[in-house]
Amino acid sequence: MAVVSVATWLAPMNLAIVAVALFLGYFLLRPNRWRGNPPPGPSGWPVVGSMFELGNRPVIFFNKMSERYGNIFSLNMGQKRVVVVNSYETWAEAIVEKGHIFADRPDLASFKLQEAGDQSRGVAFTRASEIQRKKIKFVRAAFNPAIPEVAERFYTILSSEVALLMQDIAKENGKPFDPHHVIEFCYVNIIGMLLYGKIFQERNEQYMKWAATFVRRLALGSCMLVDWFPSLAYITSGKAKELKRLVQTMMDWHMKLLEEHRQTLNESNPRDFLDYLLIQQQKGKLMVSDTDICCVLDDLQSNGFDTVTANTIWGIQLLVQNPDVQKKLQAEIDEVVGSGRAPTTKDFRNMPYLEATLWEIQRVAIMAPIPGARGTLSDTTLGGFDIPKDTVLMANHAKMAMNPINFPQPQKFDPSRYLDENGVVVAPDKKMMLFGNGFRICPGMQFARGMMFTVMANLLQRFTFQLPEGVTAFPVGRTDGLVQYPVSYKITAIPR
Ligand code: HEM
Ligand SMILES: *[C@@H]1O[C@H](CO)[C@@H](O)[C@H](O)[C@H]1NC(C)=O
Repeated sequence: MAVVSVATWLAPMNLAIVAVALFLGYFLLRPNRWRGNPPPGPSGWPVVGSMFELGNRPVIFFNKMSERYGNIFSLNMGQKRVVVVNSYETWAEAIVEKGHIFADRPDLASFKLQEAGDQSRGVAFTRASEIQRKKIKFVRAAFNPAIPEVAERFYTILSSEVALLMQDIAKENGKPFDPHHVIEFCYVNIIGMLLYGKIFQERNEQYMKWAATFVRRLALGSCMLVDWFPSLAYITSGKAKELKRLVQTMMDWHMKLLEEHRQTLNESNPRDFLDYLLIQQQKGKLMVSDTDICCVLDDLQSNGFDTVTANTIWGIQLLVQNPDVQKKLQAEIDEVVGSGRAPTTKDFRNMPYLEATLWEIQRVAIMAPIPGARGTLSDTTLGGFDIPKDTVLMANHAKMAMNPINFPQPQKFDPSRYLDENGVVVAPDKKMMLFGNGFRICPGMQFARGMMFTVMANLLQRFTFQLPEGVTAFPVGRTDGLVQYPVSYKITAIPR
């Protein structure tokens, strides 16, 4: 979650605006006084609060504050109050126990921009409402592999797209390459097929531009200057303008697909998710406008491929760094599947070591250290403190993932921590909630796990991943934003 880039602020124009804002702000922009007993926290600077301390990597500041204040603390952020939760137990109190109260997404300018200017559109950055519930129910059904027709469709699409991925990687001929875009392309097409049919036949320039727009958009992500000073709105933030432009590009793109689909729609024979949405719209249910439909598609496409790509890229890095785990996975694949056919979602149940490894990759890589914020629908309490209506809540997943009580020796990459003595996976997500929980739980969870499983199983059946000759370590570091990647690297895929 990028916040404020110092460079933007140092521009003289902005400095002048800030000076005026500071002067007027003290009187006009004071945060609402907190009723009752707030969680402890730093008071920060007058007017701006802790805004500047967050920087591009707020998790560093959050971790520091959690050491001082504990499981839950509050921050003044411009005109808003933000509560940060650092422990699984307190987060579970919020989103599970008091789920109906913590079911909102906050009223933030950047969230509004993400939903093309209106937080009643889409599903992800959308305010809680009856209509959001109905839309998400519809999405859940379309992505639920417990429904046989859905499972069959996943199976077919995954098998063909993953086979193409294997060809792509084989073409590298064991030479060093960066796996990022090859893998991203595979996931983009899997989700694209479900949503609206195959959109890119090859990884050409047009595709690269398209993917970069999506990724940049989630990197800008949520929580920027305009969020904390809505009264100053768009004057000061170049990032807000950039986000608006990126979202517009995506909207135009979805709108074109929508129009093509409408022209060829056969109501008794829907081809994909977009057809289903159009039918709902015709029946006067759910989707009111075309922009609504585009926002739903956009939420699914962007959440859908960025998260799983990042996890897989982190996963390959972690497996190269832990060759013993890679070997064990290959042994499991050889035993359960052999080499005569490709692994599929149907093998999931029989491969507990790979399942455990995928959970461990998510925990150690923690590609979304601070997932999308929540909001409160009424006054409530959390961890014994008072939380007013419309508070912005953030979960520090990075801190939860490294809790030494729930995950002994948390720095260690160790899939066996989720396996009992019989090699059965036990409650891996119990102390983390990596896909959220309650009313806003990730609707793509089963789908994401199925995709990541199939991709990883096929990769390891066919290849062994290594650092290129002469290279001894991966570059250190990660990107910023809502979804974070490792610094780009090259590896070799040696055919087995
Ligand atoms: C490894 C992959 C993924 C991870 C770790 C992940 C994680 C999350 C998390 C933590 C949330 C917030 C939940 C909450 O507030 O309680 C979320 C929401 C969401 N995810 Fe995922 N996700 C993944 C993949 C996907 C995929 C593949 C899709 C689409 C098919 C998807 C669609 C969504 C949507 C639409 C929401 C918003 C739900 C709402 O606000 O009601 N995600 N995800
Ligand atoms: C629409 O789909 C139905 C069912 O598959 C089919 O019988 C019908 O011929 C299709 N109509 C058109 C106009 O293609």
